[in-house]
Amino acid sequence: MQNIIITGGTGYIGSHTAVALQESGFKVVVFDNLSNSTTDSLYGIERITGTRPEFVQIDCTDLSALRDAFSRHSDAVGVIHFAALKAVGESVQRPLLYYRNNLVGLMNVLLCMTEFEIPSIVFSSSATVYGVPETLPVTEDTPLQPATSPYGQTKVIGETIVRDCVAANPKMRATLLRYFNPIGAHPSGFIGENPSGIPNNLMPYITQTAAGIRPILRVFGNDYDTPDGFCIRDYIDVNDLAAAHVAALNNMLSGTDGVSTFNLGTGRGYSVMELIDAFRDATGVSVPYEIVARRDGDVPAIWADATSAAKVLNWRAKVPLSNTLQSAWRWQINSGEKKS
Ligand code: NAD
Ligand code: UFG
Repeated sequence: MQNIIITGGTGYIGSHTAVALQESGFKVVVFDNLSNSTTDSLYGIERITGTRPEFVQIDCTDLSALRDAFSRHSDAVGVIHFAALKAVGESVQRPLLYYRNNLVGLMNVLLCMTEFEIPSIVFSSSATVYGVPETLPVTEDTPLQPATSPYGQTKVIGETIVRDCVAANPKMRATLLRYFNPIGAHPSGFIGENPSGIPNNLMPYITQTAAGIRPILRVFGNDYDTPDGFCIRDYIDVNDLAAAHVAALNNMLSGTDGVSTFNLGTGRGYSVMELIDAFRDATGVSVPYEIVARRDGDVPAIWADATSAAKVLNWRAKVPLSNTLQSAWRWQINSGEKKS
């Protein structure tokens, strides 16, 4: 069985990817400092797959501890590096925290991979690297725009760091995955997104409002230059996203060298209002909302051209939006029961 190290593996996307990897026959080792997650997700992964991944509580910015952990898992054939802080607004308030955590963490992981000769890395990038795109949908060749937040900058710079390391080391290979808007949960309801405090993102805000935890959803702006005036995003099911990581890893393990970059989205954009309506249609629950001013830094519209991932990785988003919304709602109900 081939071993894979997943940094940030107790988090939202990491835990779903751990399930997908275990179901594809990989052995998973999770490295996480639990700054934005708990070990509950390991229990969820075990309930779904029958196997609890090995867990190492570790901070990727601590090089000596990381080196020690890598030395004990030097038989790993690849690393999926999810570990990062991701709150855009907080990154504007605390830029050094974000640059240090996201970039020092990444550099330490790359250093350990070089020292222990682990060749393949998947790096979690983001559609945020496209900024406000001039044409839609965006392909991987769409020019990158200056990032609008320190968080976004860590993805732009992170991609560059990975590319430079691969250029300098012919034994190393990498896949940069640019996620659009991941939503939903595992259909079992055993793992899902667990935002601490008030959610920044639309989907958990919708489900928490539907559950009565938040009184009302604030919709940011209805005067955009889009068909219905609301912002448009490409919402991708987290299980589809997880499957893409397995495909990316297999692509490298089967010998693809250098750096590959893929957009991970559905290729279809939905406006905020379309998503609210789709949630009502999928779950039967109407979410109270009010329209307020635009949120600073929001891109009016972005969705992916994901044909490259289809051609090269044979990967496509498959889960219908209604199923994704139902899984998000199921997870919300389950996590509410756990808390009460
Ligand atoms: P998450 O917060 O649920 O998971 C990230 C995990 O990394 C958490 O468990 C956290 O405890 C851990 N972590 C953070 N810093 C660490 C460190 N220094 N050492 C060890 N562990 C650390 O977030 P997620 O939504 O699963 O995101 C995973 C990755 O995908 C991140 O790199 C994020 O930037 C990227 N991404 C997320 C989205 C999104 O909307 N969720 C979109 C684009 C890109
Ligand atoms: N929105 C609301 N009300 C809310 C929350 C969001 O109307 O309470 C709207 C936003 O204005 C935006 C849309 O819902 O139009 C989506 O917003 P999210 O915050 O869910 O997602 P973003 O597209 O702003 O950003 C997300 C991640 C970033 C990542 C980006 C691209 O938060 O980390 O996707 O991948 F960079």
